[in-house]
Amino acid sequence: MKFRKKLGGRVVVPVALGVAASVGGLALFSQGAVAATSTGSSSTSGANSVTYGGTSGAGSAPITNVKLNPATIALGKTLFVENCSSCHGDTASGTSRAPNLQGLGAATIDFWVSTGRMPLADPTVQATVKPSRFTKQQTLAIDAYVSSLASGGPKIPEVNLGSASISAGEGLFSTNCAACHTITGVGDALAGGVYAPSLYPATKTQVAEAIRTGPGNMPRFGPGNLSNQQVADIVKYVKYLQHPNNAGGIGLGHVGPVTEGFVGILIGLGSLMIAGYWIGGRAH
Ligand code: HEC
Ligand code: HEC
Repeated sequence: MKFRKKLGGRVVVPVALGVAASVGGLALFSQGAVAATSTGSSSTSGANSVTYGGTSGAGSAPITNVKLNPATIALGKTLFVENCSSCHGDTASGTSRAPNLQGLGAATIDFWVSTGRMPLADPTVQATVKPSRFTKQQTLAIDAYVSSLASGGPKIPEVNLGSASISAGEGLFSTNCAACHTITGVGDALAGGVYAPSLYPATKTQVAEAIRTGPGNMPRFGPGNLSNQQVADIVKYVKYLQHPNNAGGIGLGHVGPVTEGFVGILIGLGSLMIAGYWIGGRAH
């Protein structure tokens, strides 16, 4: 083949240069990624000792608890029996198919139902995010019913971002969350077929609920690990990731400079190959 012959000849040098440049670029790219990951993981294990003081806490409280209305418990019970009790039992005390929910707290119930993880269709795989089957009022009613059965567990957090800081949130996020969710929040596969999902669909409340309740294989961060102010800072940073101010750069799925660099490498390699092909062609 003509093209093949050319590739075997003069084009080899420019193409080799292109490949070398790309490999160099990739090495830089992955070094950056590794550095970010190791920062994250080393500090994740030390999550207990995170002290990011100095966030101004003036103004209203960064987190208040949603008050559940006892008048909705009856509706919640009906919804629970129809949609949940086949697996969790009528009084949420668990069966061989699904765990006990009593005493987990309203935040846990609210997180699993509002993210569409529950009710579960297939109990053999990690519950996935899907549009919730219930309205917000119905979800709060289910929360009220299950929390009326036993006390304990975190309450549903209402996050106030007024006094929260994106830069403090970014530091806390890279220390405590990026190892699993990546620094841009797109999510990543973890060991054992588990994945840390993208954080882009999560609401403020869901982010705070995930932090405080530790769903599935995610660690739980209690008030001793992260203060309410720090949770609000992280929530503000996650919200920022969802809607970054695109000041410069190409919008490549909000993944920022890493993707831009990577796309640059691909475009660079492509044009080097074309240039090489052209030089090779002219030499004949
Ligand atoms: C088909 C069976 C099934 C149905 C129906 C179901 N669940 Fe579940 N649920 C499970 C299983 C299995 C788990 C454990 C899954 C896991 O950890 O990933 C679970 C986990 C949960 C958890 C997390 C428990 C924990 O320890 O963190 C909550 C909360 C929950 N379910 C609430 C509900 C509610 C509320 C409903 C009804 C709206 C419901 N589930 C319907 C099977 C079911
Ligand atoms: C050890 C890995 C790990 C760390 C560290 C971690 N997460 Fe997670 N996170 C997970 C996994 C796994 C899930 C999915 C749980 C499931 O669905 O069973 C998850 C789920 C979530 C969700 C739910 C998103 C959705 O799909 O609804 C949010 C929000 C979240 N994490 C935020 C955070 C934040 C904020 C931090 C840091 C404070 C953090 N995570 C730290 C592993 C991690």
